[in-house]
Amino acid sequence: MVDVERTLDEAGLTNPHVREYVAHWAGITGAERIEVVSAADDARLIQESLDAGELLPAGEGLYYSRSYYKDTARAEERTIVATSDENDKGIYNNWKPAAEMKPKLVELMTGASAGKTMYVIPYLMAPKGSPLENFAAGVELTDNRNVVLQMIRMARVGVEFINDLGDSFVKAVHVTGDLPNLGQGTADDKRYFVTVADERTILHFGSSYGGNALLGKIAHGLRQGAYDGWKNGFLVEQFMLLGITDKETGKKYNVCGGFPSASGKTNLAMTLAPDALGDRYYVEFYGDDIAWLWVGDDGKLYGMNPENGVFGVAKDTNEKTNPTAIESIVPGTGAIFTNVAYNSKTHEVWWEGKSEKPTDLDGWEDWKGDKIADRSEDEVDAPWAHPNSRFTTTLANVPNVAKDFEDPAGVEIHGIIFGGRTRDREPLIRAINDIAEGVYDGLTLGAEATAAADGLEGVLRYDPMSMRPFMSYAEADYAAHWLEVLGRAQVKPIFAHVNWFQRGEDGRFLWPGYRENLRPLVWLMQYLNGEVEGVTTPVGVLPKREELLLEGLDEQALADLDTVLSIDVARWRQEMGHREKHLAQFDGLPEEIWEAHRRVAADLEEA
Ligand code: GDP
Ligand code: PGA
Ligand code: MN
Repeated sequence: MVDVERTLDEAGLTNPHVREYVAHWAGITGAERIEVVSAADDARLIQESLDAGELLPAGEGLYYSRSYYKDTARAEERTIVATSDENDKGIYNNWKPAAEMKPKLVELMTGASAGKTMYVIPYLMAPKGSPLENFAAGVELTDNRNVVLQMIRMARVGVEFINDLGDSFVKAVHVTGDLPNLGQGTADDKRYFVTVADERTILHFGSSYGGNALLGKIAHGLRQGAYDGWKNGFLVEQFMLLGITDKETGKKYNVCGGFPSASGKTNLAMTLAPDALGDRYYVEFYGDDIAWLWVGDDGKLYGMNPENGVFGVAKDTNEKTNPTAIESIVPGTGAIFTNVAYNSKTHEVWWEGKSEKPTDLDGWEDWKGDKIADRSEDEVDAPWAHPNSRFTTTLANVPNVAKDFEDPAGVEIHGIIFGGRTRDREPLIRAINDIAEGVYDGLTLGAEATAAADGLEGVLRYDPMSMRPFMSYAEADYAAHWLEVLGRAQVKPIFAHVNWFQRGEDGRFLWPGYRENLRPLVWLMQYLNGEVEGVTTPVGVLPKREELLLEGLDEQALADLDTVLSIDVARWRQEMGHREKHLAQFDGLPEEIWEAHRRVAADLEEA
């Protein structure tokens, strides 16, 4: 039996509430040792993981890991938000009574860490001193060392963040379980990822991957945060956050926005490099996945990124598409690559879209660890890297990270954008002036399913504000909460809907995307500032062709431009029927949202 008291004393963990929580779960999970970690332990833990073969070297100060092959994405159907109030049941949050789920998880976790170390990770999902700090602290318990290393990169980790907080911390328990025997994806699936939101307790069993296991990120930073925000007057969203400065006028605009997982948040936030568009604009990176938003005492809307790192999709990340990301994972950054391809001789990593596929197969292994050279005829075309393979790196490694990224005051928000992967209908950008219509647009965001969650790729589904997998209470309340928070803001942000993924008949992307996405965003800021007027359509204001900065855009993009700057009224009318059904699922949706819907529908009928 572990001597919990002594271990916590030695680690300087003095908060009595945290001590009691650690002792309680050490008893249940049956861990053999307890270790309290902080960011300063990184080098030692990395060495231990290398010695144990859990990590492989991937160049100077770079690391490679593989997850169990059936454990490579978030498992949405196994993810549950539990509370003691049935009114919290929504369409997407998989609500269950807390009284039903807690005993289940305790049973699954009992003795499940026997023989292992239970790491205690005190963390903060905010810059220290943030007005939302009281909602940002947590303590993750995990029996997985790789989870510790990822958390150190993704959050602020150390006892100093929780010792003085009394009982205002999230209890986040992660037990990996016996991965080869959990029946992933079968009728006998044993995994459960539960947030008991009204008890600020997270219980995740049966995975060691990404959002299932790094509990500060999604379970706390999104699900628990959203629930806390609802009860306490702030917004918690799966949003990226960036700042654009117009050097000519000196004005700075901060834009945040939601794109469903694997639809381009990380790339948009990171890739709009400072030299873009003839050096007139300076672009700063704040966050790529989560934003917490609140109304300040001055009546302005503020936002911050609660994370301390980036967990980016590797596929198609290269010097051309995202040089900033490439620079943030160079030797010496401490970046960890997960489920990409690996060369066991040269220690290089590779993924689809990184560069030309290596022709010398010597040493190359795919994400499962199988030798590429040994592939049979029918396997040769299979991807080398998993489509949801990722890189993990800290914000400080990102070359264009904002100077004030750790400022607890956050930044003023000027624009809120939504975008999904949609092959047709959605133009490059449409600006929306009205708050209710902006919220309505977010609620009807749709995207084709992607590899970030288990499911069919290419099937269109609605994903309100890109929060579908992270929704923690009923959608009608969520909509009302948005209207309430933005109603309090005296300076209103502008909304816009963007789409980088429209395709031509031959399947090609009609817009080059990536770094070029700065062009429509600059237009939006000019529109907000009254410098351009655009063309009014039933679904928002679109740029006139000549209003967009077009210099340097390639010929194909120029040829396709009129298509992405127009709307297909027939397709839109058809879409309105789908939207009506989608919104009708949400009992008690605010009348303002229905009014916005009817207004857009009526305008489309007249168009
Ligand atoms: P996130 O999960 O929302 O953060 O999405 P990422 O930024 O990681 O991107 C997911 C995938 O979409 C990656 O494979 C990117 O290369 C790709 N992607 C991102 N932005 C664009 C874009 O503007 N155009 C195209 N065609 N692909 C993009
Ligand atoms: P992303 O986030 O795919 O939106 O980057 C992480 C995840 O979905 O697991
Ligand atoms: Mn991302």
